[in-house]
Amino acid sequence: MNPLTMIMTAAIAASALSNPAADGMSIGKTVGDFTAPDHKGGVHRLSDWHDQKVVVIAFLSMECPLAKLYGPRLARLAAEYNHHRVAFIAVTANQQQLLEKIDSFVRETGIQFPVLLDETSRLAEEFGARRSPEVFVLDQKRRLRYRGRIDDQYAPGQKRASATHCFLADAIAAILDGNEVAVPVTEPTGCLLHRLPRPGRHEVTYHREVAPLLEKHCVACHRPGEVGPFSLTGYQDAANWAEMIAEVVENGRMPPWHANPKYGRFANDPRLSAEEKRVITTWVREGLAEGTAPTLQSPAKFAPGWSIGQPDAVLRIPEPIAIPAQGVMEYQIIDVDPKFHEDKWVRAVEVRPGNRAVVHHCNVFLKPPGGDGAVEGGSLGSYCLAAMAPGTPPLALPEGMAKVIPAGWHLQFVLHYTPVGSPQTDQTSIGLLFADAQSVKQEVATKLLYDPDLLIPPGVPDYQVVRTYEFPEDSLLLAMFPHMHLRGKSFRYEVYYPDGSNEVLLDVPNYDFKWQNRYELAEPKRLPRGAILRCTAHYDNSADNPANPDPSAQVHAGQQSWDEMFNGYFEIARADEGLTKPTARGALGEGIRLMFSVPALLTWIATGAGFLVFNRVRRPRAR
Ligand code: HEC
Repeated sequence: MNPLTMIMTAAIAASALSNPAADGMSIGKTVGDFTAPDHKGGVHRLSDWHDQKVVVIAFLSMECPLAKLYGPRLARLAAEYNHHRVAFIAVTANQQQLLEKIDSFVRETGIQFPVLLDETSRLAEEFGARRSPEVFVLDQKRRLRYRGRIDDQYAPGQKRASATHCFLADAIAAILDGNEVAVPVTEPTGCLLHRLPRPGRHEVTYHREVAPLLEKHCVACHRPGEVGPFSLTGYQDAANWAEMIAEVVENGRMPPWHANPKYGRFANDPRLSAEEKRVITTWVREGLAEGTAPTLQSPAKFAPGWSIGQPDAVLRIPEPIAIPAQGVMEYQIIDVDPKFHEDKWVRAVEVRPGNRAVVHHCNVFLKPPGGDGAVEGGSLGSYCLAAMAPGTPPLALPEGMAKVIPAGWHLQFVLHYTPVGSPQTDQTSIGLLFADAQSVKQEVATKLLYDPDLLIPPGVPDYQVVRTYEFPEDSLLLAMFPHMHLRGKSFRYEVYYPDGSNEVLLDVPNYDFKWQNRYELAEPKRLPRGAILRCTAHYDNSADNPANPDPSAQVHAGQQSWDEMFNGYFEIARADEGLTKPTARGALGEGIRLMFSVPALLTWIATGAGFLVFNRVRRPRAR
């Protein structure tokens, strides 16, 4: 053991032992025999395993994202230790666990050992199990020798490239070797297990107060087919997840949102007010009263499928892509020809994963005919058409604004997949809502500030990168979207006005790679010509960043999550553009028409790229 590992192990052991949350069954206590049914209709006793030297009891809640990540690992450990007389038993402590869910969990994770049903939470209470997954290791005398996490690779919202401490495997090995378990208690980190409702003073009821809040803040993601790992659409769903709901609402982890409330007002801010939070936590504390369902069912706000409404065109990647069970997948770059024979204006765009479990994110770029790569499109030079990642709302532009897909251009999908422990396939698509070219007043572009030469030295805890953009003409800022990878720590957008004043437009003090939010301004922000947008990012490449895949690495700009990125996206339009206003017509041609557009001309002169864009992108004819 190197000195650092020793210190860390000692620190982990000390914090675990002194942690009040780790009460419940204490180390060394003998577990009495118990009986429980399994999910296939069988019944088991602990004493059935009397000839086993070690018994591992794993509390799992089948819908918990961490249980899904750890399921295959438990299956593998069980197979590895099978010949050493080590038995594994799963206990699913959630009430109302649907049997099909257990079946599919077992199938997908490859678990061969029994799954016991703990419908009254009796076993969870006896062991003091609080989280999923949480493991309890018993020796041959059925004394408790280890309790806690499986290893330290995953925690909610946090993934290391691999585990640095394999607590469970180490404990099993120590017991088999007749040794003490070096770290007998660790704090489990997964989803809280469900507790049965207690009778209470029912001040708050599900139907009257709680359901409308969940509908407003949670159901967009927590409904079938969406990104949330379980539904929150009915009483039973909400009751099963009650403790976790209270926890994530209280600590602000859900709904995911990372903007500092001090700056800016955003149209898509999903946060709960303090009062709304209190309603939810009171409901949970006071025993999950159901109340009576309203007699008139309000119409469902969420139709299954597209969030932007029924698209005018749906384009899908041509072949399903196979995603392996494990490992790292290269970015998939896939060309789709929409066969548009005229310029198409789009007012809403939604990227819809075929299989949400594996699509980490997807960007869709525009590629000119015959070209071999994507380029910036439209007269404003739009970096990409759309992006989808956890937490990213679909693009829906204000009235009269649209992005252009020039005639003949292709869409280029860049897909990042993350394996989930079982082989999967995906066929992602994009839905477009067209705008009538005559109704479009302002063209919208996604601009990007980036740093292709990004180089972060090893171990540095607070590496700063700044990039700026000068507005060449009066513009409207519509939205901002910061993007970094696992070492990303904070990101800020500021504007410096020509008169010397400045203000913060968006501040993300605790950036989280897992959630890719786009922040849509409640009101488009007018920024004058000469205003400077300044993006500042900070990176933590030290060992203190739990998400850091390798603190010893010199980190370059790159696509994979162990590389880094500095991407400050922002959406803009020309402040005073009036595409529908009649200008020079017909024979003079569209190029000449644009010459009369002073702001456009200034842009081209300012950027020096005008003629390239001008030659490349045709614009719709003014009528
Ligand atoms: C933007 C989509 C989105 C919204 C809105 C959202 N969730 Fe989630 N939620 C998720 C995803 C995705 C996960 C899985 C996280 C993971 O895999 O680590 C999740 C996980 C959870 C979990 C499991 C614990 C955890 O942190 O992983 C709970 C509980 C939860 N959400 C409750 C809520 C509640 C309550 C609301 C509304 C107040 C809400 N969520 C709103 C997407 C969302």
